[in-house]
Amino acid sequence: MGNSSARIIFHDLPPPRQSMLDEVLAGLARPQKEIAPKFFYDARGCGLFEAICDLAEYYPTRTELAIMRLHAHAMAGLLGPDCALIEIGCGNSEKTRLLLDALRPAVFVAIDIAREQLEASCSALAQSLPGMAIVALRADFAQPVALPLDELQHSGRRILYFPGSTIGNFTPAEARAFLARWAPQLGAGGGALIGVDLKKDHALLNAAYNDARGVTAEFNLNVLRHLNRALGADFDPAAFRHHAFYNAELGRIEMHLVSLRPQRVTIGGHVFELRAGETIHTENSCKYGRAEFEDLGRAAGFEPVQCWTDDRGLFSVHYFTLPQ
Ligand code: AVI
Repeated sequence: MGNSSARIIFHDLPPPRQSMLDEVLAGLARPQKEIAPKFFYDARGCGLFEAICDLAEYYPTRTELAIMRLHAHAMAGLLGPDCALIEIGCGNSEKTRLLLDALRPAVFVAIDIAREQLEASCSALAQSLPGMAIVALRADFAQPVALPLDELQHSGRRILYFPGSTIGNFTPAEARAFLARWAPQLGAGGGALIGVDLKKDHALLNAAYNDARGVTAEFNLNVLRHLNRALGADFDPAAFRHHAFYNAELGRIEMHLVSLRPQRVTIGGHVFELRAGETIHTENSCKYGRAEFEDLGRAAGFEPVQCWTDDRGLFSVHYFTLPQ
């Protein structure tokens, strides 16, 4: 990890190739074919996602960043000194840097499935916050992840930091199960700071996932290139088109890849047929009301403490704690 390697401890728990293959095969065998959004994030997919974050139409990143600029110190005051900050899905390290700068935790643990992204953001953080203990854990956070306890023994409260509205890429039931699974590892008195995209005008939502330059379309299609390379699949990306829309009933953006013609795809010796117009569902991006997300946190065993939003009510950052 370049010049900063001395301060970063790296744990690599990549999902085995077979489990990736099994998961993709199971998703494509469903009546509504699906590919999990975690497969977007090869090196190119990470780059495309960064480009999305800079798009005029994609309001979440800059809105959350503005919330962090205004409130990182208040958040740090609530989280308290000497904590272990555990970040899930390290994306834009600018937000994290604002929080780390204000908080100065005893240890920072970053968990992500994308190795290059994880290394790059931990190296950048190590350079701007010299001396901070950093643990990088490459793992699939959609699955149970065991914390590296040795490296946490000198820290106090454990705080889960899940920015970017990535929790919205789980269904509400999955998000609840995810938080409930983390609660015992965070322990009594632990906390969670979570970035959550809010329900809003449908036109704004639809524009954010259908940008004029087609970056989101390329990001969506890139999942096929990733599976071709990682699993030896033979998807023809030119035979699919991007389709994203707000499903008001379920309160979520859905992204799909629409098959442009009848076609066959082979993966790991299995053949899948697609009809013209049939879709592969690649992502949900759930949007919440403030109270709705607080209820979700409660159902997972957490108590809502505070919620920060922007002036336009586009995005929220929620702070929850676990009872002592
Ligand atoms: C990572 N995640 C929160 C993004 C979202 O908005 O759901 C991924 C994304 N998909 C399309 N654009 C951005």
